[in-house]
Amino acid sequence: MEKRQQLYAGKAKSVFATDDPDHVILQFRDDTSAFDGERMESLARKGRVNNRFNAFIMGKLQAAGIATHFSGLLSDTECLVKKLEMIPVECVVRNIAAGGLVRRLGVEEGQALVPPTFELFLKNDAMHDPMINESLAETFGWATPEQLAEMKALTFRVNDVLKRLFADGGLLLVDYKLEFGVFEGKILLGDEFSPDGCRLWDAATREKMDKDRFRQGLGGVIEAYEEVGRRIGADLG
Ligand code: CDP
Repeated sequence: MEKRQQLYAGKAKSVFATDDPDHVILQFRDDTSAFDGERMESLARKGRVNNRFNAFIMGKLQAAGIATHFSGLLSDTECLVKKLEMIPVECVVRNIAAGGLVRRLGVEEGQALVPPTFELFLKNDAMHDPMINESLAETFGWATPEQLAEMKALTFRVNDVLKRLFADGGLLLVDYKLEFGVFEGKILLGDEFSPDGCRLWDAATREKMDKDRFRQGLGGVIEAYEEVGRRIGADLG
């Protein structure tokens, strides 16, 4: 697989073409952003930690029968993925109230959400990823009703797999965001799954072990990601 020109640079990852039109390379950088890119910092080891963390999770999801874009690790900071036509809708499942839900509804942080909630957001930094719903997604052509139904079902299947995986490591999967794309007419899980895009709390102490450590200036960000990796048996290198 030959690495070719850079196609895109996001806030924490860059995407490169390859000599295969069906595959691209994701490069995880050390860059960390919060508040729609308003705060940026470079955190040592982050690219490697998130790349390897994501590879471990994608492997677990694939083993559970959830189709993903992940094709394999290429290096400490790069992986090969199928080139998707991304659906610009973020799917969020919450098991415990935190973050945006607490701010929006004034509910108590830490409250168990039974059944878990499902929300849609438009992927649009300039508009601060506004909350949307199925009707808006259909009308504006962001996703079809069939795609939305499948994305919702897949997002909840991911919850079943990962809630258990993290629970076995003494961690609560509070909430997470997934993105999907289309490859040869099929919906695949895309983007990444790392502590950048989910909330993980220590089950006993409720200590935050995810990107909220960066957002809230708590320090020890990558150390916490590495501790999560140790607890779930991921080799982060
Ligand atoms: O992160 P924030 O409080 O602004 O938003 P949220 O709606 O509470 O986020 C729910 C979950 O999705 C958290 O685990 C976020 O880290 C994740 N998320 C993300 O990865 N990317 C976004 N653009 C928005 C949320």
